[in-house]
Amino acid sequence: MSLFRLDASINPAHSVTREIADVAQNAWQDTRPGAPVVRRDLGADPIPSGAWAAATLSGFVPVDEQDADQRAAQALAATLAAELVAAEAYLFAVPLYNYGVSQHFKTWVDLVLADPTFAAGGPRDAIAGRPAVLVTARGGGYGPGTPKEGWDHATPWMVRILADVLGLDVQVSAAELTLAELTPGMESLVDTARQSRDDARESARTQGRSLAERVVGASV
Ligand SMILES: Cc1cc2nc3c(=O)[nH]c(=O)nc-3n(C[C@H](O)[C@H](O)[C@H](O)COP(=O)(O)O)c2cc1C
Repeated sequence: MSLFRLDASINPAHSVTREIADVAQNAWQDTRPGAPVVRRDLGADPIPSGAWAAATLSGFVPVDEQDADQRAAQALAATLAAELVAAEAYLFAVPLYNYGVSQHFKTWVDLVLADPTFAAGGPRDAIAGRPAVLVTARGGGYGPGTPKEGWDHATPWMVRILADVLGLDVQVSAAELTLAELTPGMESLVDTARQSRDDARESARTQGRSLAERVVGASV
């Protein structure tokens, strides 16, 4: 039984999503000692931005006329799809950037969905029903009644893709106000920020443990 972990923070030295995903991963490993963790670090090793277009357009080109870029993009899409299929549980650690989804994560999703395993019109059920945890972090606050309520356009989209397109059984851990301790003018929000981070750690611990228990057909 293996866990696939994806990270997308561009700031590995001070990453909240990585820290909280570590909590979930440790809880998984406590429950499944020795189970392998396969990592895809998009912050350290981004998917080339042209790969999605090359892979997608190659579908309209006869095989013997495809160029080297198109073949390489198809091979990369196949590798990413195979990583997903090979795992039994999933951990995604993806921050909010510019009120939207991380470019690195979007490129990864686009390429995964370009592979025949997950392409529109195909069965798309290769990993359906498997358990996943999505860890996210946001510098600001987006709760009900706050000025920026509704401005986090990343989390709903990520859940839509992971749950409704890929069919994963997704739980979310989110830390808010992660910039409060660093940003002048946000001092009054520091306690709320710390509480949010503590809550995210706690839910990641519970969700990491339950990842192992929710694996289809598993007996822990
Ligand atoms: C380029 C950039 C854009 C960001 N845009 C937003 C934003 O739109 N809203 C927000 O609340 N936080 C924003 N943030 C803050 C991050 O969401 C926050 O720092 C988060 O903790 C990043 O995840 P990490 O700690 O795992 O790197 C942005 C950060 C960066 C570097």
